[in-house]
This record gives sequence, structure tokens and C-alpha cells, in this order.
Amino acid sequence: MMNCKIIEMKGLEKIPCIGLGTWKSDNKQQLIDAVKYAIKEADYVHIDCAPAYHNESIIGEALQELFNSGIKREQIWITSKLWNTQHHPDSVEPAIRNTLADLKLYYLDLYLIHTPTAFKTMGPKEGLFPKDENGKIIIDRSVSILDTWKAMQHVQEIGLTRFVGVSNFNINMLERIKYSGLPLPYVNQVEYHLYMQQDPLRWYCRTNNIIFEGYSPFGSPDSARPGDERADVLGNSHLCQISQELGKTPAQVELRFLQQLEEGCVLIPKSVNPVRIKQNIDLNFDLNSDQMECLKKQQRCLRMLGKPHDGIDEHGDGF
Ligand code: A2P
Repeated sequence: MMNCKIIEMKGLEKIPCIGLGTWKSDNKQQLIDAVKYAIKEADYVHIDCAPAYHNESIIGEALQELFNSGIKREQIWITSKLWNTQHHPDSVEPAIRNTLADLKLYYLDLYLIHTPTAFKTMGPKEGLFPKDENGKIIIDRSVSILDTWKAMQHVQEIGLTRFVGVSNFNINMLERIKYSGLPLPYVNQVEYHLYMQQDPLRWYCRTNNIIFEGYSPFGSPDSARPGDERADVLGNSHLCQISQELGKTPAQVELRFLQQLEEGCVLIPKSVNPVRIKQNIDLNFDLNSDQMECLKKQQRCLRMLGKPHDGIDEHGDGF
């Protein structure tokens, strides 16, 4: 008889409103320490991962250490994502199984389609950006996002993830899912910060009961638009002024502003620094209405990340 292990998918009822971002955390020991510190010392219960960040096996090591020290699997919410080269429906189950093996888990809490653009199918370890002889990314237009979404339902049904969602989807793409009759995503994870406040998309998600999740809440200062003063979110003079008024750091004011702007939203600030990890979840204060209005006016529709691929504007808003 086969030795089957029945896994009961226990977990937190709802996605926790702050998660630890892990994109660009590539120093192994620093990342292990950051994950352990966040969970054990800083009250985080949510880690956001993706195979595209090339560090899931490191996070898997940190999680093992945490589980060995008494933390239970169901106490932590773990998200991962399906990369663009795995959109073909036959690739989705192998992709999540690969991620689970790297993270050393039996199931995820949430699995997202990382972006709506299908690239030419490649094995999970073959690289992220298949290119033609001219160095152009090879987009696979034969794979329908609805078929990928159906395959996401399948991996949920067979117990590999508790919830499924999407990332970098615009309103049109969400409408395609809605009018296909398939279930709507649990979340849509998109860029969200002072200069990219996402009013229409937030309204759409709220109206359709899709949880709005924001990545790069500080505008990804370490990777986006280096040297561009217009892109320096945390250096915004109004943000700094309000942070002085409140006795908080600009990062804390930024996060709290985003939370108050969209009640119930989820944010995943990335840090590997213990002081900043702690700071980013210590948000027990409020901005008053004048402070909120002032920061709302800082909207610049300035997208820091995600350039259109091969003429496909993933976000559909031209920013
Ligand atoms: P570090 O990891 O050294 O803390 P985003 O989440 O928008 O992509 O931003 C991540 C960047 O912001 C990283 O460079 C991270 O550096 C930095 N960062 C994270 N938390 C804070 C904070 N509280 N104050 C200032 N910078 C921060």
C-alpha cells in the first residue's frame, strides 16, 4: 500500500495586513536572520515569497529552523507566485510543487499569478526571461490567462494552496476573470506607494471583494529609478514634515498612510534590517485628516517597477 500522508491545510483565517517582503534579499545569512527575527521577535506572521526572487530555498531553511524551534506551520501565512514561464496549464502544478519543495512546505497559504504575461514555457530552473536571437523576451500569446487561472483553481482544489490570487493585474484583466464565471482572485498584489496610489484599481478591488495588496510601499528605493529625485518616496518633504509632527519615521508614516487610504489593504515592506523590520510593523498611530489630504495630493501616477514587455502594457494604464 502507498504510504500517503494526509495533510490538513490549517492556517490563519485571513491574510495578515503586514508581511515581510523578500524580493532582493539575496544574502543568505542576512535573509535567514531576517525571517527568523521577523517571526520570533517582531510579531510578523506573513512572509511574501516568489521563485523569481531566487531565494525560496533559503527561506525554506529559515522556516525549518522556526518549525524546529516550536513555531507551527499554521501560525505563519506564506505566499508564493507562479512565474511567467510557467503559465501553460500543464506547468502550473509542477511549478507550485517546485516552490513547495524549495520552501520545504506541504502547502502554501496563497499562490499568485506573478504577472499576467505568459513567456515561452521553460523549466522552473531554466531562467526567468526566455529571449530570441535579438535579445527580445519571447511572449507566448497562445496561453490564455483564463486557462492559467483555471489551473490555479486546480492546485487549490488538490490542496497545494489554501487561496489563489493574482499580481500586477489591471481592471480589464480582472474583468476578464469576472465575466468568465470563474472565481475571482482572493487578492491582487500591485505596486502601491505615495506616488502610485492606485485609486481606480483600489476602488475596483474593494467593489468586487478582492483584497488589495501593495508591494514596494517605499517605491523600491534600492532598485527603481536610481538618482531620480522624483522617485524618492521616503524623501518626500511632506512625508518628512508629517513624520516629525507624529514622532515617527517617514517609512512608518508612509505605511500608515497607505493603510488608512485603503482600509483592509495588505502591505509587504521588504527589509533585512532588524530595526527597520520592527519599525515597519509598529504602526499603532493615526494620521489626521489634514495629514491624509496632504499626502493624497502627492500622487504622481509614477510607476517604479514593471516595464511593458514587448508592447504589452501589463498594467494597462500607460504609466
Ligand atoms: P533594508 O532591507 O536594508 O531595510 P520596498 O519594500 O518599497 O521595495 O523597499 C525596500 C527598500 O527599503 C530596501 O532597500 C530596504 O532596505 C528599505 N527599507 C525597508 N524598511 C525601511 C525603513 N523602515 N526605512 C527606510 N528604508 C527601509
